[in-house]
Amino acid sequence: MIATLIQLFLVFILSCLIVFYFFSRSNYGYWKDRGVPYDEPKLFFGSLSFLMRTSAWDVFYCLSKKYKCDYFGIFLSWKPALVIHSKELAKKVIVKESDSYQDRYIASGVDDDPLGALNLFTIKSPMWMQMRHEITPTFTSMRLKNITEVMNINSTEVVNRIQKDHVDSNKPVDLKKLFSMYTSDTVAYNVFGIQVSSLKDLTSPIFFITRYMMRWTFWRGLEFTMIFFLPAVAKLLRLKLFSQTATEYTKKLYREVVAEREKSGQTGDKDLVSHLLKLNANSKLPAESGSQLSENLMMAQAAFSILGSMETSSTTMSYVLHELAHHSDEQEKLYEEVSEALKESGKDVLDYDDLLKVKYLTACIQETLRMHPPVPHLDRMCNKKNQLTDELTVEAGTPVFVNVVAIHYNEEYFPEPEQWRPDRFSNSTDTDNHDFTFIPFGDGPRFCIGKRYGMMQIRAVIAQIIKKYRIEPDGPQTWQTDPYSVFLRPKHGGKVKFIPRS
Ligand code: HEM
Repeated sequence: MIATLIQLFLVFILSCLIVFYFFSRSNYGYWKDRGVPYDEPKLFFGSLSFLMRTSAWDVFYCLSKKYKCDYFGIFLSWKPALVIHSKELAKKVIVKESDSYQDRYIASGVDDDPLGALNLFTIKSPMWMQMRHEITPTFTSMRLKNITEVMNINSTEVVNRIQKDHVDSNKPVDLKKLFSMYTSDTVAYNVFGIQVSSLKDLTSPIFFITRYMMRWTFWRGLEFTMIFFLPAVAKLLRLKLFSQTATEYTKKLYREVVAEREKSGQTGDKDLVSHLLKLNANSKLPAESGSQLSENLMMAQAAFSILGSMETSSTTMSYVLHELAHHSDEQEKLYEEVSEALKESGKDVLDYDDLLKVKYLTACIQETLRMHPPVPHLDRMCNKKNQLTDELTVEAGTPVFVNVVAIHYNEEYFPEPEQWRPDRFSNSTDTDNHDFTFIPFGDGPRFCIGKRYGMMQIRAVIAQIIKKYRIEPDGPQTWQTDPYSVFLRPKHGGKVKFIPRS
């Protein structure tokens, strides 16, 4: 009996593989039939054979070297997708004709992964439009100004920790970890109104959550990669954007904060949770107030704010220090600028308005974001047939990826793109996309909602570090990237040496 069942099972698996084989093969002619250049697919994987061996960032970098054309086709296993390398076509998809590309391709199942499916990054239209509209007021200049004070307090703790752990004790630094603590402490205040310091004593409840959210094991990397590149399979296998543990802890903390507020009658006016609770009470969420969906919607925004604030920003901070360590002239120029600004302001640390004025600091961050954009591609799903060029019509249901790395490394836009030169961004503002050649935060209706927050928290910490320490290299000029991460991440966390300035 058991032998028969095993036989039946094997026959079933074999039949599935044969059906999948013929189905994939029939799809592999998709781009050829349309006269579009394409990446030769490998059976079963299509263009995804890199999975878990090479980081998505490195793959988009390699594609930028291999395909010097405006666009080309790839296969996400069996599914044809379009990759864009030209700034004009990128602008068409992301901005001008965004009506035909409203949602991201990334998806996970609402029932199995509500926090992963209902956050602003993943949520689909028309719910997305309402959520974006309602969340936008939490990113006003007034609020950012207030949070910058917390960023500065936490930046001082970063400096203290560098002194204690890496200068006095002469231990190597893990930059990614150090900056994850910093961003974690700041997001705790921004989202939950909690002022904690994982940098001081490591007992922060948020750091507990984020340690799980940002732990890139093979399995977590695989889940994330599938959700980004094979969402249909991810849904079938019930994979999660946020791990079970991170989800449970986020829910627990969220409910504790809400219960505490109900008990004390305090509103915590300035944080995201209080904003979400008001939206819920005023029936401004795209769900019935008090329903399971409305609670999931609120918790999903909190969860993604944590991930969004930490992962990309801590990577950028690490790479800024890495580049400064390898560019001593530029580092001295930055030190002079920050010292001068402090002298002029007469303060110990630069506040929100001062930080907006230190232009060379902005240029160093922007040049780092050009060379090391944390999000290597912008993804969209074509929802309405679109005539992209005279020759190419994009069918509804086609994933479209804008290769940010290819645009940032195009020598026509940035001569000698492998060179780190902050002067390329002299006098650039936070909103300047340099004629659509600089898009680390995306653009159009779905551009990064935390762009100004992200820039400010990078400015605050780099300004304080550079004032105290000279940064020197500790290891090779090129960092390996983490193959398990979809976003850019130094494989071993990243190291530099801190030399106290007298
Ligand atoms: C260096 C820092 C950051 C970088 C490089 C970055 C990059 C990006 C990129 C490339 C996108 C996709 C944009 C598009 O598809 O057009 C995005 C979306 C998003 N980011 Fe960021 N981000 C950063 C910081 C933050 C912060 C601090 C937050 C939250 C406080 C945040 C929250 C979000 C959200 C919610 C979205 C989805 C927006 C939507 O679809 O409506 N990000 N980010």
